[in-house]
Amino acid sequence: MSTLTKLALGAMGQLRPRPTKGDARKSIKLPAPDKTGGVPLMYALAKRRSSREFARKPLPLPVLSNLLWAAFGVNRRGGGRTAPSALDAQEIDVYVALPDGAYCYDAKTHALRLVAASDLRRVTGYQDFVDDAPLDLVYVADHARMRMVPVGQRESYASAAAGAIAQNVYLYSASAGLATVIRAWIDRSAIADALGLDHDQQVLLSQTVGYPKT
Ligand SMILES: Cc1cc2nc3c(=O)[nH]c(=O)nc-3n(C[C@H](O)[C@H](O)[C@H](O)COP(=O)(O)O)c2cc1C
Repeated sequence: MSTLTKLALGAMGQLRPRPTKGDARKSIKLPAPDKTGGVPLMYALAKRRSSREFARKPLPLPVLSNLLWAAFGVNRRGGGRTAPSALDAQEIDVYVALPDGAYCYDAKTHALRLVAASDLRRVTGYQDFVDDAPLDLVYVADHARMRMVPVGQRESYASAAAGAIAQNVYLYSASAGLATVIRAWIDRSAIADALGLDHDQQVLLSQTVGYPKT
């Protein structure tokens, strides 16, 4: 769908998901991430960049597993994560929009939990490439987990935490030869509707990931 069509539909509150082609699975257990692979950190930093052209090729499950673990997985005993959060509130949920459904990443069990049995990739942003790239992530802050953070600071702290997760995705992508771009130009209420979010949950940013178009 073109950006102009999306803008028009968004303005009318009509930007909606597509039905899936296959059956959405209720949950997807991800394979264990490979925590020893990847290129040297300095090389990944040298390669990091935003890309906006994606092949339609799906991401294999082991790649999705590594990507989500790098993004915001549990990386130590006690439940610590790969990205920081103020007071360790761990308030960001990573939603995963795939062609077969939209899921929430459960870092504790390293699994995906179905939240919507529809293809809502095109709802995750106005730019046309988001429709057909194999994966759009959505970073959602759960304000209910930030009771210890002063109200006026919750959004900025959560945005900083989401930014750290996004950079993890950039670095993993650079290492794994994937293309990615973080996006703030999104219709937050269309996304919240499509994901069935409640009033404590705030859509912050989205990020597209896929193989680069050749
Ligand atoms: C908070 C934030 C929001 C952004 N929003 C968008 C967006 O909506 N669409 C987009 O194509 N790029 C977006 N970008 C990516 C920037 O355009 C990109 O990082 C910038 O042009 C620098 O390019 P580089 O990432 O390749 O270094 C965003 C970046 C940040 C940090």
